[in-house]
Amino acid sequence: MKIAVYPGSFDPVTNGHLDVIKRALPLFDQIVVGVARRQEKHPFFTLEERVRLARQATAKLADVSVEGFEGLLIDFARRHKACAMIRGLRAVADFDYEFQMAMTNRKLDPSIEIVYFMPSENFFYVSSSLVKEIARAGGSVDCFVPPAVSRALKAKLAPARR
Ligand code: PNS
Repeated sequence: MKIAVYPGSFDPVTNGHLDVIKRALPLFDQIVVGVARRQEKHPFFTLEERVRLARQATAKLADVSVEGFEGLLIDFARRHKACAMIRGLRAVADFDYEFQMAMTNRKLDPSIEIVYFMPSENFFYVSSSLVKEIARAGGSVDCFVPPAVSRALKAKLAPARR
């Protein structure tokens, strides 16, 4: 069984994340999406909301499951007996952060490989931060996120608009 974990904040999950999952699926038997709590980053959605939205978005994808996690990513990967960690790599701007993260995780456990996927050019510039910025300013994010995420953003922002 080739199991990979796909970690991230997923605040919220975007079509870019889904593109990465779909690209990775043929290479692994199972993908476990790991939604990190990251309380220190003050996420917009709670961990439970982020997990629910990621589950809804991946419901039709067999061999994909979604779980929240706290603590070290490498421990999450070990718990799932993963042979690899998946990350998406968009522009050059991502590289420094990803390089540091990959090298650190490799030092912590060299047996778990880190594999990067480049999303389709349609999603190259999509980020959760950008999506939240557009939604906060009242713009439509329908082309960047699954419909349930778009609805959840509207619902969460509605009280602030009143
Ligand atoms: O989507 P993000 O915010 O870029 O994801 C970052 C994430 C959650 C993958 C990273 O912060 C992480 O792995 N957090 C868990 C704590 C940990 O293991 N830190 C050391 C990794 S270098």
